[in-house]
Amino acid sequence: MFYNFQSGHITKAQPTYDMIILGASGFTGKHVIRETLKFLNIPSSPLKNFAIAGRNTSKLSQALQWASCPNPPPEIPILTADTTDPASLRHLASRTKIILNCVGPFRLYGEPVVEACVDSGCDYLDICGEPEFMERMEVKYHDKAVENGSLVVSACGFDSIPAELGWMFNSRQWMPPAIFSKVEAYISLESDKRIVGNLGTYESAVLSMAYCRN
Ligand SMILES: NC(=O)c1ccc[n+]([C@@H]2O[C@H](COP(=O)([O-])OP(=O)(O)OC[C@H]3O[C@@H](n4cnc5c(N)ncnc54)[C@H](OP(=O)(O)O)[C@@H]3O)[C@@H](O)[C@H]2O)c1
Repeated sequence: MFYNFQSGHITKAQPTYDMIILGASGFTGKHVIRETLKFLNIPSSPLKNFAIAGRNTSKLSQALQWASCPNPPPEIPILTADTTDPASLRHLASRTKIILNCVGPFRLYGEPVVEACVDSGCDYLDICGEPEFMERMEVKYHDKAVENGSLVVSACGFDSIPAELGWMFNSRQWMPPAIFSKVEAYISLESDKRIVGNLGTYESAVLSMAYCRN
């Protein structure tokens, strides 16, 4: 925070980073770094810089190397933060416009990250596919997020975006426009190779089902 002597107002310091990817060393985090790098150094891109963060700097550095391959890794800052250490999360939130959170299961690790973002007024984005977590965060942090100008956006992963696009496409085919009370989406995966899933995602899916209210 900065104190403005002329106006007498306390204002927020300009954040150092456009975005911090938290949990960037994970299976999904590595892919998020790879996609993010495609938007760096492009004049039309709003992304001018970003940092990666997590609890293990050597794993983060390996992830950056993997994501940059075959090019040498660019100079992206590597920051330390652990979801069990609220001060480290507050520090991240104070330095960026948005935290893109890849640390899951969100039911176990997500809340402190949302809380740090909402407290500091920075935006929060995640790839969560766990409805109970999303609903709980909305109930608990909505008012404070509005007060502090923090956007909290969940469900920006593969689980959600294609389904959302399918729903939008479907809803535009109806004349007159229809209002749905329920939409069911299915996905079928085909591959010549074996389809594998990562343990973090599997654990999140199991927890998500376990806490489904339906
Ligand atoms: N909605 C979707 O379509 C979609 C798609 C993919 C993934 N996801 C979700 O994304 C989440 C991650 O999945 P994943 O398969 O990438 O898991 P993962 O490979 O196990 O990665 C988990 C990441 O979280 C970090 N982490 C764990 N505990 C932490 C802590 N206390 N503090 C800071 N960082 C911590 C890990 O760091 P270390 O490297 O130090 O262990 C790692 O970087 C899951 O919840 C999954 O369901 C959603």
